[in-house]
Amino acid sequence: MSVRGVAASDVERPRSDRDGRTLTHGAYARVREVADIALAIRTENLTKIYYLGWGQRHVGVKDLSLEVEEGQIFGLVGPNGSGKTTTLKLLLGLIFPTSGNAEVLGEPIGSPSAKARVGYLPEGPYFYEHLNAPELLRMYGSLFGMRGAELEARIQELLELVDMWERRDIRVANYSRGMRQRVGVAQALINDPDLLFFDEPTSGLDPIGAKDIREVILRLRGEGKTIFLCSHLLKEMEPICDNIAILARGQKVMQGSVEELLAGQEKRYRIEVREPDEKTLQTLKEQALEIKWLDEICRGIFAERDTAFKLAAELEDSGAHLLDVGPDRRTLEEAFIEAVGEESADASDL
Ligand SMILES: Nc1ncnc2c1ncn2[C@@H]1O[C@H](COP(=O)(O)OP(=O)(O)O)[C@@H](O)[C@H]1O
Ligand SMILES: [Mg+2]
Repeated sequence: MSVRGVAASDVERPRSDRDGRTLTHGAYARVREVADIALAIRTENLTKIYYLGWGQRHVGVKDLSLEVEEGQIFGLVGPNGSGKTTTLKLLLGLIFPTSGNAEVLGEPIGSPSAKARVGYLPEGPYFYEHLNAPELLRMYGSLFGMRGAELEARIQELLELVDMWERRDIRVANYSRGMRQRVGVAQALINDPDLLFFDEPTSGLDPIGAKDIREVILRLRGEGKTIFLCSHLLKEMEPICDNIAILARGQKVMQGSVEELLAGQEKRYRIEVREPDEKTLQTLKEQALEIKWLDEICRGIFAERDTAFKLAAELEDSGAHLLDVGPDRRTLEEAFIEAVGEESADASDL
């Protein structure tokens, strides 16, 4: 059952709008109706505490409220141990929340009808080593009641999608990490799911392998599927996600579209110069609000567009190695560090 328009459960509780004001039931339903937002996932104060005995406990995820629209690539990002896999397992019904609740495809988590429309690529998937790719997919297909010519056609289609058809005779035991990930993606797609959960799909892959997986993800969105990605690699998420939530220590610290998260507090402009000489650096220091260094690249930040562009032209005329002039976009990494503080960000992990 899709959650297009207003699902019955929408009107059960008062909700908040983006500014945190509580909406009445009717008002909430109207906001939904006008925007015609269809939700693939909604969580409300979802919390998982792992109790380890002897009074010891670990916070898996705490008070997580998310809304994931249908047809988008949603990224749940954060450093290792921030609660991404816990969230994903809760949504898949593999573990149970301590408190809070969630809906997946309009159904409470764990409901069999929603599970049938969901695909899952676990982190570092394990497969029977003695099987080859078609044998493996045949096994997964049979779990969904697929068989015969329909299943065989689906297997070929999926192995072509992940560029494994030519290599279909190789056994899992001889797979590279990239081949495992490719077959993992094919496995997650066998039942033609509407919603896909990918846990760290590109970690441990070489750049080409990671790029191929990202392309498959974009293609799946093109087919109208919703993709929920967990990753600690902010840089890799930035170019493909429509919306992102950032977790730190089990809690959401930021959420928004990539544009929203990357926009600075105020609109500012920047000039980037590679290895500026003494005179260029002096000019930048005199005119810029602030100077930042990124290895050998010097970035000057300006409040006014005209000032930045005029100075950039002058610097170029004087022979400086100008790399960029334009709006100052921060990276997701910078946004994350801003949100959680330098010490706790452990940026080396991103
Ligand atoms: N089965 C478990 N038992 C106890 N603690 C766990 C368990 N699984 C995860 N945790 C803890 O929950 C926190 C979040 O872990 P996880 O969801 O795996 O993070 P991520 O996927 O972002 O790396 C970590 O502190 C981790 O140690
Ligand atoms: Mg994880």
